[in-house]
Amino acid sequence: MTAKQAVQPLVGDQEARIYVYETTGGGASFINPVIKLKQGDIFQATLINQLSEDTIVHWHGLHVDWYMDGHPSYAVPQGASYKYHFTVQSRGGTYWYHPHPHGMTARQSYMGLSGFFIVEDRDDLNLRNSLDLKLGETDIPLVIQDKRLDEKGQPVYQPTEMEKFMGYEGDVIFVNLTANPVLEVRSRVYRFRLLNGSNARIYRLAFVKGGDNLPYYVIGTDGGLLDKPYRTSEIFVSPGERVDLLLDLRTFDTGEVITLKSLSFDPMHREEGGHGGHEGHGSSPVQAPKIGSGKEFHILKLVLKDRIPYDRTVPQSLSRIEAINTSGVSIRPITLAASGMQWLINGMSYQMDQYPITVKKNTTEIWEFRNQPNSMPHPMHLHGFMFQVIERDGSPEQVKKLAVDQLGRLVTDLGWKDTVLVWPGETVRIAIDFSHNFAGEQKLLTHCHVLEHEDQGMMLNYMVKRYGNKG
Ligand code: C2O
Ligand code: CU
Ligand code: CU
Repeated sequence: MTAKQAVQPLVGDQEARIYVYETTGGGASFINPVIKLKQGDIFQATLINQLSEDTIVHWHGLHVDWYMDGHPSYAVPQGASYKYHFTVQSRGGTYWYHPHPHGMTARQSYMGLSGFFIVEDRDDLNLRNSLDLKLGETDIPLVIQDKRLDEKGQPVYQPTEMEKFMGYEGDVIFVNLTANPVLEVRSRVYRFRLLNGSNARIYRLAFVKGGDNLPYYVIGTDGGLLDKPYRTSEIFVSPGERVDLLLDLRTFDTGEVITLKSLSFDPMHREEGGHGGHEGHGSSPVQAPKIGSGKEFHILKLVLKDRIPYDRTVPQSLSRIEAINTSGVSIRPITLAASGMQWLINGMSYQMDQYPITVKKNTTEIWEFRNQPNSMPHPMHLHGFMFQVIERDGSPEQVKKLAVDQLGRLVTDLGWKDTVLVWPGETVRIAIDFSHNFAGEQKLLTHCHVLEHEDQGMMLNYMVKRYGNKG
């Protein structure tokens, strides 16, 4: 995998300078390839850095030995390479990869570096067979990203100090690096694997037809399939999160158009209180994004090309999610708050060589993310281990009304997760089982997946070792 600059139009036919991962095989070259493996397979790759800056690849969501995880201390300079070799232990699911050099993750991702890493297990295979799904045709990975372009069609990444604090949002919405995307579909069931690969923007996703929000089934989260399909018509997806869903198009006629939209919501950015938006900060040649946070816009158009016979039924059961046993488990508070123009975790900013959290190997902990009421939404991510959301407290009204149980959880909280959105004023408890079979200490990260926040230091190292402490 070569990380390099490439020239490719983003909008219209104006050539844009972007960054890509390129691989070759069978005489062809692939840009940001979708990597697909089975659980138990061995994965090997060499990252070759042909960028003029340091980089390293992180396999977001995969359970791998820490030196295979793309920790920023392993970033390699221009011209150097890094070898990856690991067994895929993770459940079937939609994982992804992106750069992770400290302080440069946001810009490199924004310039184009990211791709899907799909793992298939037996449950996935069963679903594929029962619905007759085919990756790339009826099982479609879709990465949603927003960018700002200048008048020459070049992506612009020049966050002001305020935009580093609030997160950098764009005004052109891309799906798989395509602007104004249209997908031709047929009258059958589709699986969409949605990834929010944006630096900072949250989406409230709905499929809309003539003013109605269509029902769809959520079937999977960050770490693979749910126990069964959950019918819904809207979900929030924050940066780093994946949502796997089924959309049944059997009732539509040739020529009909269904739009995947982001519906409007309150972004709960506290700038709304006093700062009056993004205007007036710095002298960036590019205007503030025309699509403000939480505004409604189109993401993808589905056009029904023709009707076909299709008689499969959505299975009642998909997989098994065994709840992590949390009885008697200790709770570790993790506070999210700003100090001046900087977001901190437990009052700390990232230090590459410090491990403020130490966890004992093969034990379970509850981490309690506490977000301040006057904060902003933070999608909190953990490297190395998947977790389960066990409770949401103090959720804002727009979130609370989507809760599906007494614990305040959302549909997207019901499976294995590696990233969870914590809204202002919310306390979100997650259970993590730190069991692993790797040799030695594991040096991992927890951070906010608003990439500007991560780069600004809203990230901590944590260590998993045989003798932990309460940190
Ligand atoms: Cu996708 Cu450390 O992140
Ligand atoms: Cu990650
Ligand atoms: Cu954040």
